[in-house]
Amino acid sequence: MAGIVIVGAQWGDEGKGKVVDLLAEQADLVIRFQGGNNAGHTIVRDGETFKFHLIPSGILHAGKICAIGNGVVVDPEILIGEIEGLRRRGIDMSGLRVSANAHLIMPYHVKLDTEGELRLGKLEIGTTRRGIGPCYADKAARLGIRVQDLLDEKILRTKIMAAMEPKQQMLRPYVKDPDLDLHTMTETYLSYGHRLESHIADTAKLCWETLDGGGTTLFEGAQATMLDLDHGTYPFVTSSNPVAGAACVGAGVGPHDIDEVWGVAKAYATRVGAGPFPTELEDDLGDLIRERGGERGTTTGRDRRTGWIDLVALRYAVRLNTMDALAITKLDVLSGIDPLRVCVRYRHPEGAVFDEFPYHQTILHTATAEYEELPGFEGEIGDCRRESDLPREARGMLEAIADGAGAPVRLVGVGPGRDQVIWMGEEAEHRLRAA
Ligand code: GDP
Ligand code: IMO
Ligand code: MG
Repeated sequence: MAGIVIVGAQWGDEGKGKVVDLLAEQADLVIRFQGGNNAGHTIVRDGETFKFHLIPSGILHAGKICAIGNGVVVDPEILIGEIEGLRRRGIDMSGLRVSANAHLIMPYHVKLDTEGELRLGKLEIGTTRRGIGPCYADKAARLGIRVQDLLDEKILRTKIMAAMEPKQQMLRPYVKDPDLDLHTMTETYLSYGHRLESHIADTAKLCWETLDGGGTTLFEGAQATMLDLDHGTYPFVTSSNPVAGAACVGAGVGPHDIDEVWGVAKAYATRVGAGPFPTELEDDLGDLIRERGGERGTTTGRDRRTGWIDLVALRYAVRLNTMDALAITKLDVLSGIDPLRVCVRYRHPEGAVFDEFPYHQTILHTATAEYEELPGFEGEIGDCRRESDLPREARGMLEAIADGAGAPVRLVGVGPGRDQVIWMGEEAEHRLRAA
């Protein structure tokens, strides 16, 4: 039996989708445990690109059971669109399950997200405006509507009415919006229920059956540690807990069901939306990395902010998630950049030095990053498949990351393609033996 959690170790978009797709080959079940369609997970397979917002990244393995756990917030319209889009591309969707306990994103959540951001003005968070925050807020306020409610007209209508009542003032600008009409909304969501019915399931039980039967379950995280509601750069965070601990709550298993935690990080760093980012590069080099790395949001199409890898934040993420392994992606993007830098500490303007991630947000906003410089490497590394194929300097960068973060690098990405990876150390031997 094995429960393996895969989480983002930075600010999102680290390449979790690709890593989940790879590890899913040997898994019996893949389950998303938090977030919603704010996520955008990309998989490039045989030159074909797939972008998933809600559907777990294991779905390309025909017939694999892929579940959307109770901790996810589901926009049913988006989910149905995703299912149909994949079906049209010939993907077998028979393995898809959706937790009956997952909460639904309603049209008013999307409006409230936009409205909230507009009200904040300059203080805006830069959300994806997909209604994620308001949906989780309703869940906590016990005004949420769950997937199972789609199957009962009376309950659905009553719950929508109760949920909308306290929001009337903020929803005033949308008073004439037909999407917010109680009758229309109830009818529309009932029709979503009909279309999703065959996928609705008790997904916690699926996890238990898989684990108890000796199978492997992959818990797929969305967003990332630095966007965690409790542990990230609050308030510039998402409204769920993307850390590994949340896999238990969001899928319905206990801590003893988790055997391994993998963190995914880029060999540099990116962030979408507002909030502190001590290693940000607001110069030509930042533009070059953005260009080379294709750093444009999968979900919103916004340019991602770019910077050097932050080992202070990564070490924090390793500890918070008790990461057993790191997958370092996009090493190829750094080719030709000399010297390379890794952030090893922060310095406050008044001189204090922080080797550990500071708990006080103000420090993070004002601190500057201090770096260790490493020699760069040249040339195309996209065809490297073994650690020994990599230039010495590229290996030096990986060693610096592992040392600084305090976790071994077990997988390296050298291009977007599914096969563009290097398994490292013991993992490589294990994979070669298995092949
Ligand atoms: P996720 O949200 O963590 O799943 O990541 P995204 O899919 O939003 O963003 C990662 C992007 O990097 C995608 O476009 C991937 O195809 C791409 N990618 C993943 N790994 C690598 C890699 O090793 N090298 C390069 N060049 N691109 C990669
Ligand atoms: P994946 O799973 C990167 C960011 C938004 C914003 C903040 C809050 O693809 O890594 P929200 O809409 O969640 O209320 O926005 O979080 N954000 C992400 N950034 N990758 C993501 O997902 C993200 N999901 C949310 O840009 O700053
Ligand atoms: Mg993404």
